[in-house]
Amino acid sequence: MVNLLRLLWLIILLLDLFITKSMAAFVPTSRYYQGSVIIGNKMYFLGGIVNSGKGTNSLFYLDVSLPFNSANPKWTDLTSVAPIPVNSAFAPPCVGGSNKATIFLFEHHKTNNDNSTTIVTFTFDSTTQKWSTPTTTGAPQTREDMKAVIDKNGKIYINGGFEPYKTQKSYNSTFIFDSSSLSWTNGSNAPIIRSAYTATLLSNGLIVYIGGTNDDPSPEINMNLISIYNTNNGTWSLMNATGDPIMARQSYAAVLNKNGFIVIYGGAANNYTVAPNPALATLDTNSMPYKWSAKQFNSVYAPPPLAYHSAQLVGDYMIIAFGAGLLNAKFDLATAPNNNIFILDTSNYTWVSSINNVSTLIVNPSGPSNPNPTTSNSSDNNSSHITIPLIAGLGSAFIIIASIIGIVFWYRKRRLHYIATPGTNTRE
Ligand SMILES: *[C@@H]1O[C@H](CO)[C@@H](O)[C@H](O)[C@H]1NC(C)=O
Ligand SMILES: *[C@@H]1O[C@H](CO)[C@@H](O)[C@H](O)[C@H]1NC(C)=O
Ligand SMILES: *[C@@H]1O[C@H](CO)[C@@H](O)[C@H](O)[C@H]1NC(C)=O
Ligand SMILES: *[C@@H]1O[C@H](CO)[C@@H](O)[C@H](O)[C@H]1NC(C)=O
Ligand SMILES: *[C@@H]1O[C@H](CO)[C@@H](O)[C@H](O)[C@H]1NC(C)=O
Ligand SMILES: *[C@@H]1O[C@H](CO)[C@@H](O)[C@H](O)[C@H]1NC(C)=O
Ligand SMILES: *[C@@H]1O[C@H](CO)[C@@H](O)[C@H](O)[C@H]1NC(C)=O
Ligand SMILES: *[C@@H]1O[C@H](CO)[C@@H](O)[C@H](O)[C@H]1NC(C)=O
Ligand SMILES: *[C@@H]1O[C@H](CO)[C@@H](O)[C@H](O)[C@H]1NC(C)=O
Repeated sequence: MVNLLRLLWLIILLLDLFITKSMAAFVPTSRYYQGSVIIGNKMYFLGGIVNSGKGTNSLFYLDVSLPFNSANPKWTDLTSVAPIPVNSAFAPPCVGGSNKATIFLFEHHKTNNDNSTTIVTFTFDSTTQKWSTPTTTGAPQTREDMKAVIDKNGKIYINGGFEPYKTQKSYNSTFIFDSSSLSWTNGSNAPIIRSAYTATLLSNGLIVYIGGTNDDPSPEINMNLISIYNTNNGTWSLMNATGDPIMARQSYAAVLNKNGFIVIYGGAANNYTVAPNPALATLDTNSMPYKWSAKQFNSVYAPPPLAYHSAQLVGDYMIIAFGAGLLNAKFDLATAPNNNIFILDTSNYTWVSSINNVSTLIVNPSGPSNPNPTTSNSSDNNSSHITIPLIAGLGSAFIIIASIIGIVFWYRKRRLHYIATPGTNTRE
């Protein structure tokens, strides 16, 4: 009797385990040179080079309106419903469209087997979760390893980048894509050739281009030598930043915090053999010229040296994701992969393990004008973030309840069987 009960419980537990496991949360694999954007409460990740050494068509997101711990973020995979039309990496995404709900992805492939000579624009409508390939006019020569930045008028600026097929060189060109008319024009050339840089739009309409490489034998560009594009009148200027010495780097990441400081992390120096110092630094764009400040840290929650990672700002928090670590003087996905995220509180430059107070998470899409920033009050009904655990929980609860009912009946049956006098037990 007791043994039978134990057996039943064991079966219930095993079933429960099975159900929970079969609905186990999606965890993305390590990757680098993925794209990343924020729309509303969702931080989307696009493609990236994965362990095979090839780009991937994966698309997934993190709902940043929910409290989360960097050790256990709740990802939602969209790859099965909305894969990127090509295997993508080194291709910059940018958020635009009338509702700031469309991802524009600037690719160098038309299909997986077609190296495009001109930039291919794919769009993802995050409300319908559908990809399109709109027809554009005047598409410029293809590029990779650059950034795309959108201004308040819906114009997307692409500076420099690397031409991977014909010349295999970096450039100083300025391509401007009007996201409403879907037409390309040329801007004036930048004062410095760059790829693998960061680009940050300030609230005054200036785009600040820092670091990266210009393909010279000494590859990384001095971090003080800052190219600035003025979106108000289409002109370039150069600035010599001051402050703490910041070692040159490429394939690092930057965000603009609420106080007008560009916060940078990581990257690679000396042709991808060295992690540049300091890993973490800020550029104060309120001072003239802009001023660097090195940030020291010592925290169990800090990231290792990383290159080719991405970073986004959520409220005060800089969220760093993926990228390759450094091992044996090489930033290598195979030997030092990273599929973790790391969280920096940019109000005091402290690395933290979790974000709990969702009311602090006012998310600004990458454009400067977001009249209705989305707060934690999520009306997001599509989010499987909550529904997956919920379904798993309900499933388990159902099985447990069903089992209890089963046990009760089994007991009753046994009791009836034993105490009923022959002929009176109609249930037999
Ligand atoms: C595309 O370019 C890569 C080099 O970047 C080359 O290895 C590959 O063969 C090219 N593919 C086609 C279909 O031309
Ligand atoms: C932009 O300039 C390039 C030359 O650098 C030229 O080939 C291309 O046609 C120009 N595009 C437009 C839209 O004017
Ligand atoms: C920018 O590119 C143009 C065209 O390739 C070139 O003539 C010019 O010298 C470049 N400027 C710099 C600063 O490299
Ligand atoms: C950088 O390293 C690559 C191999 O990792 C090598 O082919 C290239 O020549 C190096 N470039 C410089 C400027 O040292
Ligand atoms: C563009 O604007 C900047 C900053 O206001 C100014 O210094 C510069 O002279 C302007 N350039 C042109 C060509 O209007
Ligand atoms: C930057 O400083 C260097 C000397 O350190 C000087 O030669 C150069 O002209 C300066 N450039 C600008 C844009 O101020
Ligand atoms: C950093 O700021 C946050 C929020 O203002 C605060 O909770 C935290 O204690 C601060 N950390 C340190 C080390 O001062
Ligand atoms: C959460 O953040 C908001 C806005 O910063 C603040 O007003 C509130 O007191 C915080 N709540 C908690 C529990 O820390
Ligand atoms: C959250 O939603 C509720 C009901 O839709 C609404 O009454 C409340 O004002 C919202 N709060 C915020 C901060 O948007």
